[in-house]
Amino acid sequence: MKILVLNGPNLNLLGQREPEIYGAATLADIEAECVKTGREISVEVQFLQSNHEGALVDAIQDAVGRFDGIVLNAGAYTHSSIALRDAISATALPVLELHLSNTHARETFRHRSMIAGVCIGVIAGFGAAGYPLALRALAGHLRPGT
Ligand code: DQA
Repeated sequence: MKILVLNGPNLNLLGQREPEIYGAATLADIEAECVKTGREISVEVQFLQSNHEGALVDAIQDAVGRFDGIVLNAGAYTHSSIALRDAISATALPVLELHLSNTHARETFRHRSMIAGVCIGVIAGFGAAGYPLALRALAGHLRPGT
């Protein structure tokens, strides 16, 4: 089984970006944790980050036939991008929406997700630990009854 962990804008700055909100772990730390979790649950994990909306749309489209599902932290595009929502709808791939912070406990503009309605579920508020959680949840969804 192969899962793509796709990260959106500004997540390349993790570790130095508002650490009181997003924590001290860098994206490289998170990637290493995901690879470790992947080994434990027999999932091949691939990581991708882009600050560009179109590149994220491309990544979702390109995942078809190459991945079984996507863990997506779309960053701020979560709250604005109909293009990302449409890309998710256009693929038959299960997508799990992920956020480090609890977006519902923050500014009101973060309460609305354009993508949640086309995702299989949402994990938010557990910081970097949300990534391995999301991988386990998505793998469980892809392997029901195991
Ligand atoms: C985020 C939450 C978004 O509102 C924000 O724009 C981000 C990060 C998170 O992981 O908590 O860039 O997706």
